[in-house]
Amino acid sequence: MKKTSFGMVGGGLGSFIGDVHRHGAMIDDLAALRAGCFSRSREKSLETARAWDIPEDRVYGTFQEMADRESARDDGIDFVTVATPNSSHYEIAKYFLEKNIHVMCDKPVTMTVEQAEDLKRIAEERKLLFAVSYAYTGYPVIRQARRMIEDGIIGRMLYVRAGHPEDWVISSVPEEPAGNLPWRFDPNVAGESLCCADLGTHAEQLIEQFTGLTIRRVLAKFNTWPAYLPLETNVTALLDLGDGITGELWASQIAIGKECSPYIYVVGTKGALEWNHEKPDILKYTELNGPTQLLSAGRDYMGAESRSITRVAAGHHEGYFEVFGNIYRPFCENLLALKEGKAYEGLSYPTIREGLNGMKFIHACVESEKRGNIWIDL
Ligand SMILES: NC(=O)c1ccc[n+]([C@@H]2O[C@H](COP(=O)([O-])OP(=O)(O)OC[C@H]3O[C@@H](n4cnc5c(N)ncnc54)[C@H](O)[C@@H]3O)[C@@H](O)[C@H]2O)c1
Repeated sequence: MKKTSFGMVGGGLGSFIGDVHRHGAMIDDLAALRAGCFSRSREKSLETARAWDIPEDRVYGTFQEMADRESARDDGIDFVTVATPNSSHYEIAKYFLEKNIHVMCDKPVTMTVEQAEDLKRIAEERKLLFAVSYAYTGYPVIRQARRMIEDGIIGRMLYVRAGHPEDWVISSVPEEPAGNLPWRFDPNVAGESLCCADLGTHAEQLIEQFTGLTIRRVLAKFNTWPAYLPLETNVTALLDLGDGITGELWASQIAIGKECSPYIYVVGTKGALEWNHEKPDILKYTELNGPTQLLSAGRDYMGAESRSITRVAAGHHEGYFEVFGNIYRPFCENLLALKEGKAYEGLSYPTIREGLNGMKFIHACVESEKRGNIWIDL
């Protein structure tokens, strides 16, 4: 089978997301990890390379050295996965794009809207692929919902409610200051937002991918607990989704009882659709005045797109590794088509366009809060 090859910047042993990318990228045998600069510490990078079977001569001390040397090799990597903290995404992605290496970057894609626009421009000018790993949009039933909405099954959309509540801040950060906090709490590394950039943008992309709608304006209210933190830990936002459709978005890191619970509920004139990460293989569909049906990923009654990214039989539950795989799979298939000079007609995946929308959403929420909770255009 034809494969792409890739390298990773960040994501070394002990990091949160690197190994998830590694599993997701390799799950369909379309990508092989061949190089890396997994940490700023060479020792940690080498330790990761040994664990992941990467030859020492393809472990680099800096991402610049990796891009320079890999782009000069005949068998150099096709793409790079950027799995470092937020503040370095722009510099790293830009450097690899300028060496004509395709990019898979984690979210939030940059620190500012302008940086995301710049990356979009460079990728487009050089005809390079740029994916953004908005993981939850990879669940097969999200594709099914989009198909049903496009087929008019729930009629004209009227209202959307989505969210991404977790409890990780309230469960791990002391109520009073007590020593150093991880990078996510530092505006110089995380950016102008904590909760919106960490979780809100996942909910925002869930809305876009599930419904096909784009957020036009937001009115946001931030809350911060523990109160001494420099950035918000709870976001409540009203959304204008165009065509008179109103949305509500809640992102929280202080939601006791919620470990990782993104959800979405969409009401139309003829029915409603609902999804919750707590049962990620199930799409709830209710026809107006009818009983609620539970549509299960992998069943024959699901559409072709949804079934094409379901790997296990219905009821066997796919999860986080698989949804990363569902972003890597179309990205790698697109890349293989590009390398062979063929047109790509496969599934879509979140790109730098969605990454840019995410940055516009985060910035608009921050502006709304700063300016007294007013409506801000995206
Ligand atoms: N898509 C998702 O569901 C999801 C989930 C978690 C995190 N993320 C995102 O992934 C990114 C990383 O988050 P994390 O929680 O894994 O962080 P982390 O702190 O656990 O790991 C970051 C890794 O990057 C390395 N690193 C930092 N700067 C580097 C550099 N210049 N060169 C090489 N290595 C470098 C660190 O040594 C560490 O191994 C963040 O942008 C975060 O928002 C996305």
